[in-house]
Amino acid sequence: MIHMDVDKFVKKEILAMGGGSLTRSMPPMPPNAINLLAGDPDFNQPEFISKAVYDAMREGYTHYAFGGDPAFKTAIADYYGKYGVEVDPAKQVLITSGGSQAIFRAFGTILNPGDEVLLMDPCYTGYSQPAAYFGAKIIRAAQSKDEKRLFRPDFENIEAAITEKTKAVLICSPDNPTGAVWTEAEIGRLAEIAVEKDVLVISDEIYTEFIWDGKHVPIIDKPGMEERTMVLMSFSKTFAWTGCRAGYIIAGPQLMEKINQVPIGITGMPLPFQKAATKALAEGWDFVDSMREAYKRRIDAVVPRLNEIDGVSCPMPEGAFYVFPDVSSFGVPSMPLLLGLLKGGEVLVAPGSLYGPKGEGHVRLALVKPVDVLEEAVDRLGKYFSGLKG
Ligand SMILES: Cc1ncc(COP(=O)(O)O)c(C=O)c1O
Repeated sequence: MIHMDVDKFVKKEILAMGGGSLTRSMPPMPPNAINLLAGDPDFNQPEFISKAVYDAMREGYTHYAFGGDPAFKTAIADYYGKYGVEVDPAKQVLITSGGSQAIFRAFGTILNPGDEVLLMDPCYTGYSQPAAYFGAKIIRAAQSKDEKRLFRPDFENIEAAITEKTKAVLICSPDNPTGAVWTEAEIGRLAEIAVEKDVLVISDEIYTEFIWDGKHVPIIDKPGMEERTMVLMSFSKTFAWTGCRAGYIIAGPQLMEKINQVPIGITGMPLPFQKAATKALAEGWDFVDSMREAYKRRIDAVVPRLNEIDGVSCPMPEGAFYVFPDVSSFGVPSMPLLLGLLKGGEVLVAPGSLYGPKGEGHVRLALVKPVDVLEEAVDRLGKYFSGLKG
């Protein structure tokens, strides 16, 4: 192979990003390790959804679908209507290749180099690199813990962090990794701030089907928010469809016209999958119910067991299927802790520092294994942590 310095050709924002993501750069897994790193559901989609992909191909849905399949967009608008929001499928829905592309498209619509995006701290890791790619600056508003030990938005920090350069505040509810579900009051407060400070809100709502305590409050429906909100959605978690790359954005009609102008192709999702996803939205809810029940059983099994470990403090999540215990009492930074846990405990978790400075002192466990495997994982954590205390 000829070695050549390609860096001189590469966009400076890409060079500034350094290496790849943690998921892609992990050391090899010990053979018996339990992997709770990625939020990839362990459920397989029902046969009728897989068959719908094949049927659509056989029926000839293999051609361009400029602007996306209108029937799919109508199904999406109807689905979101269950939150009391009226969505015009032709003017307010854009189909994407999963939540990640929805993030990219949302950022691609608004971010100029030097602009700022306000993220919560801690928050999901997948926002920073797309923002950096557009040359934007990530600002973080530290969250504070409530009496249930859950991280919640701190509005003083949010207001203080908004500057003239802030284009958008990005929120995620139900939240990955913290498990918080923003309350009616919190959503209302943020909407007021957004209007007052004249910024957009990007609202990542991909875990809305997995709420254990509280309810989903759509910020796009708050006064003055229709043209100020981009709702990001994905089928990855709702239908355990991480490999099928299905998602969408909902926004006000004017804003959507601009989102549509981000030039990343005809539509992000192959037409046969759009057909199958339409079927999933019509007939897939028993499957979602069964996943929801399984996740709840997992949470109920894991959280008390984690809290029995000396030095671990784990709040009950209100939504999503992660737990985010505080392990700061062991005094080990979360990245070396992850590597130690993997080697010494044979459990792979995500280090809290990945989610922002406030995430340090925590680890995230994705509950994407059956209860017995999760219990074994927690037992291993317990053994490893008791070794640290001793
Ligand atoms: C909060 C959040 N947003 C977006 C995504 C990306 O979703 P997708 O897999 O559909 O790209 C994830 C994936 O884990 C997530 O947790």
